[in-house]
Amino acid sequence: MIAKLENLLKEAFSDLSRADTREKAAQVKTRYIGRKGEIASFLKELGGLPAGERKAAGEAINQAKDAIEKEAERLLSSFDEREKAARLTTDRVDVTLPGRRAPLGKRHPVTQVMDSVEAIFSGLGFDIAEGPEVELDYYNFEALNLPKDHPARDMQDTFYINEEVLLRTHTSAVQPRVMEVERPPLRVIAPGTVYRRDSDITHTPMFHQVEGFMVDRGVRFSDLKGILTQFLHELFGEDTGIRFRPSFFPFTEPSAEVDIRCVICSGSGCRVCKGSGWLEILGAGMIHPEVFRTVKYDPEEYTGFAFGLGIERIAMLKFGIDDLRLFFENDIRFLRQF
Ligand code: PHE
Repeated sequence: MIAKLENLLKEAFSDLSRADTREKAAQVKTRYIGRKGEIASFLKELGGLPAGERKAAGEAINQAKDAIEKEAERLLSSFDEREKAARLTTDRVDVTLPGRRAPLGKRHPVTQVMDSVEAIFSGLGFDIAEGPEVELDYYNFEALNLPKDHPARDMQDTFYINEEVLLRTHTSAVQPRVMEVERPPLRVIAPGTVYRRDSDITHTPMFHQVEGFMVDRGVRFSDLKGILTQFLHELFGEDTGIRFRPSFFPFTEPSAEVDIRCVICSGSGCRVCKGSGWLEILGAGMIHPEVFRTVKYDPEEYTGFAFGLGIERIAMLKFGIDDLRLFFENDIRFLRQF
């Protein structure tokens, strides 16, 4: 039996040495030391041996089994190593390469201007308020001293939903909304979307405004000038020329329109400022006593100013864009530039 075992061992080792793939090596291993393998049949024969020989034979079988197993494992793991090495050279990963960057979105130019306007007025102590875009005729017109038959309603082409409900034509509608629920002193800006029946290269049916108003005892026109000058200097630069022109709004008295020196030609006259050297940038004025009476503020006690500015107009000037409609086409090539 010992001699038979030695032969088996030799055979096993030579079979293993000829196994040239992992699969063949595994087959050889099973053939010799698997549950129904050669070694197993030796073990079966053990019972038939004389008792005195069993122990030595058993030990010899186990040694042979261990030797085959060890060699088979060595061979299998060397196949594994080789396979791993091969894989490392073919699908090579350069761990020093920078990771793939997630593409970063950018804020829309209109949002950017909106954000900077809000930041400047927050710095000046203004709170932010909002009102609905689908608005009552009452807040958009009547409470702003524009009764139903007022000719100045024609200044703005309105989208009506019915007799009493419309799409707000200006953020001024937020003024009476805030004032009827809060008492002075007030310093508020109201950014938002407004709608007018207008469409050409300088008008879109939807655009953005920021309203601002301040109400307290003793607020004067010079306060309005001071705040707006500060704001425009922060937005367009300290050297920007500013002028106030008399104007008319039903809800302010006196009223003004505010111009800045043309940011394109610095005042010498160009296409953008139509040769005037100035650009109209906002409407403003002292809040009309009639507006105060409507919201039950005593116009003898309180005074205030209000102003409204168009965000797209400012964005056009800041970024040098000559067609308003570009803002709303959402062409990614356009938007990427800001
Ligand atoms: N609401 C006016 C407009 O849209 C602007 C404005 C606001 C004027 C506040 C005066 C005071 O044209």
